[in-house]
Amino acid sequence: MRDNYYPALKHISKIANSFFGFRKICNSIAKSTTKTVHGDACCISLLNPQKEYLITVGAYGLSDLYLRKGPLDARKSLPEILDGKIVFIADATKDERVQHPEMAEAQGISSILGIPILRKGEVIGEIRIYTREPEEFSEADKSFLLSVADICAILLEKGELYLLEKDYKTSKRQINPQVAQLPTNAPRPAFAHPSEEEFAKLLDFYSIEWLYEPRSFPLHWEKDEVAEMFTPDFYLPELDLYVELTTLRQSLITEKNRKVRHLKELYPQINIKLLNKNDYIHLLAKYGYWPLGETKVEGIDRVLYSHTQIQRRVRVLAKRISRDYAGKKPVLVGILKGVTCFMSDLMQHLSLPITLDFMAISYYTSDGQVVKITKDLDSSITGQDVLMVEDIVDTGMTLNYVLKHLSAHKPASLRICTLLDKRARRLIDIPLDYVGFEISDEFVVGYGLDYRGEYRNLSFIGILHPELIEKDERVHHLS
Ligand code: IMP
Repeated sequence: MRDNYYPALKHISKIANSFFGFRKICNSIAKSTTKTVHGDACCISLLNPQKEYLITVGAYGLSDLYLRKGPLDARKSLPEILDGKIVFIADATKDERVQHPEMAEAQGISSILGIPILRKGEVIGEIRIYTREPEEFSEADKSFLLSVADICAILLEKGELYLLEKDYKTSKRQINPQVAQLPTNAPRPAFAHPSEEEFAKLLDFYSIEWLYEPRSFPLHWEKDEVAEMFTPDFYLPELDLYVELTTLRQSLITEKNRKVRHLKELYPQINIKLLNKNDYIHLLAKYGYWPLGETKVEGIDRVLYSHTQIQRRVRVLAKRISRDYAGKKPVLVGILKGVTCFMSDLMQHLSLPITLDFMAISYYTSDGQVVKITKDLDSSITGQDVLMVEDIVDTGMTLNYVLKHLSAHKPASLRICTLLDKRARRLIDIPLDYVGFEISDEFVVGYGLDYRGEYRNLSFIGILHPELIEKDERVHHLS
């Protein structure tokens, strides 16, 4: 039982009753609450009146990216809270009630405790406590959090008015973008122009989160009243970028240019781009989403994972591995040659001391030879923590053979990390500890993976044109 609840409650009620701004109060309560229950982060959210989504009004310990992930769908995300229940999620990266598990993983969030905020018996918001290590909360912690929720209930009622009136009508200050965001799964908005709908589809195709007209920026004031506003068409939270689309009509472009210039002067921290169709295709290419040029590689049917998507996933895996091996010095073992790109990127993102070793094995041929090791490890792994890094696990036969060999050297521990998992084709079931992407039964190349020794140098992972693969070829034993 912690003995700090009373001083914390005293502090929180004092802040709640202070003359600070609404957001500062909420952030401060989030901080105090986190520390009191020994959590790592906290988020206080307000439920919209239709009980569809949650808007963050105060937070502590969460990165900007996490906070900009957009409002949470109230029904999808921990729905029991809507029934006034306390919810505990032991593993946020795996629980399907967590709406952005990849974000939770990237933040290193392990468990989440959700507390409803009730006003006169009705749920109007929630408090979430996040921890990096799996944490059990005591009944006393929960009772403390319910008291904080009661204080928040009074605040949030006021807060709703604040958000509606103060921010939009008279304030010339920055409005936090998340305040005005639409729920991510809201019905598709009525787009003002077909080009906007097309752009939204393109973003969906590349799984880029977007918000349509999420925020209006006052540009001119007359006697403290807003006389002119500018509402960019899109906001892309992942890239922290506002996008205004233009048609090719010169008169409109000139007018929009003027507005965008003015916006940048008034709000220098805002990242905004004015785009026509050609521009936005090139913009996506720059961020690695658009397969411009990529699909032009002869023999490639389509791009499965762009370079950017791979990099993002590798960083998430590296973060998990760094956390799991904290205080240790693992040996990373790769099998040549397919793993080279993945190994190179993965190890650069590990915040651990590591050593590196490689093995090579003979390829399958139809001449009756059995598999053999053509290059063994350079150093002994006995008593070491070994992380076996693979490009792809297909039937599991290669991995099974290599694991037997490695286990015979009696390492202290042996785990497996693979970038791709073609689970549908598995013959030997081996538990995988870290998986980048699970893929369907298609032959992929690029980012180290080859077909007949080629395509390894592509920066993305693409699906090989099926016609290229001769029917009777045993393609899964090529590298
Ligand atoms: P397994 O023994 O069937 O699990 O096959 C593993 C090895 O086959 C991998 O290390 C790859 O070298 C190769 N492989 C399997 N599927 C593919 C693929 O789709 N593209 C390229 N190589 C593959």
